[in-house]
Amino acid sequence: MKISNSVTWIGKIYWELRKFHGEQLSTYKGSSYNSYLVKDDKIAVIDTVWTPFAEEFIENLKKEVDFEKIDYIIVTHAEPDHSGALPILVENAKNAKIICSANGAKSIKGYYHKDWDFQIVKTGDKLSLGSKELIFIEAPMLHWPDTMMCFLSEENILFSSDIFGQHFASYDLFDYQIEENDILYYEALKYFANIIAPFAKKTIKKIEELTALNLPIDIIATAHGIIWRKDISKIIEKYKEWSSAYKENQITIIYDTMYDSTRKMAETIAEGIKAFNSNSIVKIYNSARSDNSDIITEVFRSKAVLIGSPTYNNGILNSTAAILEEIKGLSLEGKKAAAFGSYGWSPANIKIISEFLKESGFEVYGDTAKVQWNPTQEDKAKLFEFGQKFAEFVGK
Ligand code: FEO
Repeated sequence: MKISNSVTWIGKIYWELRKFHGEQLSTYKGSSYNSYLVKDDKIAVIDTVWTPFAEEFIENLKKEVDFEKIDYIIVTHAEPDHSGALPILVENAKNAKIICSANGAKSIKGYYHKDWDFQIVKTGDKLSLGSKELIFIEAPMLHWPDTMMCFLSEENILFSSDIFGQHFASYDLFDYQIEENDILYYEALKYFANIIAPFAKKTIKKIEELTALNLPIDIIATAHGIIWRKDISKIIEKYKEWSSAYKENQITIIYDTMYDSTRKMAETIAEGIKAFNSNSIVKIYNSARSDNSDIITEVFRSKAVLIGSPTYNNGILNSTAAILEEIKGLSLEGKKAAAFGSYGWSPANIKIISEFLKESGFEVYGDTAKVQWNPTQEDKAKLFEFGQKFAEFVGK
């Protein structure tokens, strides 16, 4: 599929992908591994596809180009979802040099145990393809140390690697062809929340650096999902917002429960929050029955979260521990939180959750909500009041 005069999309659309990063991240809309063939006087392949599709990739590429004529293989990011077909491509494209960052060479060697013909590039380096050139921009830790982007002059295409990507399968490659535009931006947000968020500070700096370069970008060709062409400023603005202690007017309550006590607590606290601030969006998730990647997306957009679990074996329930562990890894900024939960004889749950939230960088509300056994009417009145006070602490 052509995306400009000299660039052809040669990736793989994987409609049935439902989990990414092993079993970690949900991808209900499938995804794509975007790879690009650039034909000028010189010929370059930018990235490949995930390992299971390596043979298919080579078979398709054979129809587009004589392998002997490939001069460069650009690796913007060595994660195997993009470098999986590299070994077989190198085997076929015998005259090609591999262009990557210094960290890219380390990651590629680490994965494939080969000392190929690497040409290391850094920010500002240019590679002439004849009438056009590729300009490289390193983007370390977005989201691996090796990540880089490259800009194709004349056709003004930024190949952005994982940055600005979404897990979204579509035969229509461009944003303007997608009617479900809200879903597209939701998937971009989910991608950011789950993958890019830990590196938000580096992201905002990189976007500022990119803007200062004044490159006349017309197309952002991502490594996953659709290519931005209609609205490149919109996705760039979204990334700026998401990278800057992002929060919406939302409070998210996440709980797990054994005999419904902690569920009742969650719902009563929610009623208190809504009574104090009816404009605030309040969402409740049972972490054992909801998808973790979806919950993380909701946490990312929230100004505050409440996490609840009953005490279980002097600890907390599995699903609560799992979501807390994920939240901690995100290094979120500017959010408030509180712990709640029921217990039988030891309120260890509250201490564990509160500590986790503090370690995760949340401003934790001084008060907590705990109930022994099953909430009474009196307990519920206190929980309602707790919800109101927490909403006041969070602010309107
Ligand atoms: Fe899509 Fe970080 O690989």
